[in-house]
Amino acid sequence: MTTLAIAEKQLQQKGYLDIDVDPALDLFEEIEKLKKEKNAIILAHYYQEPDIQDIADYIGDSLGLSQQAAATDADIIVFAGVHFMAETAKMLSPQKKVLLPDLKAGCSLADSCPPPVFRKFKEKYPDHIVVSYINCTAELKTLTDICCTSTNAVQVIESIPKDKGIIFAPDVNLGRYLMKKTGRDMVLWNGSCMVHEIFSHEKIVKLKMRHPEAQFIAHPECEGHLLEMADFIGSTTGLLNYTKRSEATEFIVATEVGIIHQMQKASPHKTFIPAPPNNTCACNECPHMKRNTLEKLYTCMKYEQPEIILPDWIIEQGRASIDRMLEISAKAGL
Ligand code: 13P
Ligand code: SF4
Repeated sequence: MTTLAIAEKQLQQKGYLDIDVDPALDLFEEIEKLKKEKNAIILAHYYQEPDIQDIADYIGDSLGLSQQAAATDADIIVFAGVHFMAETAKMLSPQKKVLLPDLKAGCSLADSCPPPVFRKFKEKYPDHIVVSYINCTAELKTLTDICCTSTNAVQVIESIPKDKGIIFAPDVNLGRYLMKKTGRDMVLWNGSCMVHEIFSHEKIVKLKMRHPEAQFIAHPECEGHLLEMADFIGSTTGLLNYTKRSEATEFIVATEVGIIHQMQKASPHKTFIPAPPNNTCACNECPHMKRNTLEKLYTCMKYEQPEIILPDWIIEQGRASIDRMLEISAKAGL
């Protein structure tokens, strides 16, 4: 049984998953009350549903969220994001209570790199430095020298002496992009994000023809053939900032569709078109991120469950890789 399955079973036994929320409650008001009562802070990723973004104290990308988790003086961190993000917050602030509205909010990228298999893989390259994208489990971070996010990945790679070999895990698309960008050869783990691999090249080309003035902007978790077409490549914050400063008024956005809420808020006169997936479902929505709802956010704050609990050895051995990433980011002014 996985850690997630065990945690969920325990919660089910306690009845936390079966709580009905009174539909007459004004959840925005109730959540605001709970925040004050409990000295809690809500950190939300851009891929969360609009209501959650609107009630959050901080909305950001993976780097911004980690920086906030490390710096907050709140007693409770409510993480509206996915499991690896809440784990990272717990590693950075182990004395605080970290809550995740739905423990099953996982990540296909994190799941694509099981620590026992990676450990064996790493043994083949004993002199290499391991750089892991932060989208990995807490246990994988114990096998990592330096973490990175899509905002600071170039600076992290460039901080490593040129004569040192590098293993990059788990995102092969980001890894290939970084090899091009930095000119460094790296050993890549073959993982990927289910959301960023679903975009249709053909449909995007057609969309560009119908909207010739539109800028095509993409997250580096997308496949290389899409990145080659992009007018701009960046993390979620990078993409958002680009749409604010660009003179263009139309954008085709190749990342999870939740980011468009902030883009539209910041530039109401501009048009944002989600890049189409290669089928007819809403596959450019991350099913893991979207497991969190306003109702679950409310019950999790009220009952202070589900809570992220990590063994001490994971916090002790995994934290250094996140601290190194934050040091490199601070030096680079990120
Ligand atoms: P960033 O927000 O750091 O760009 O990461 C995107 C992502 O896939 C998070 O799961
Ligand atoms: Fe993971 Fe992709 Fe969802 Fe981000 S968008 S949480 S990388 S599955």
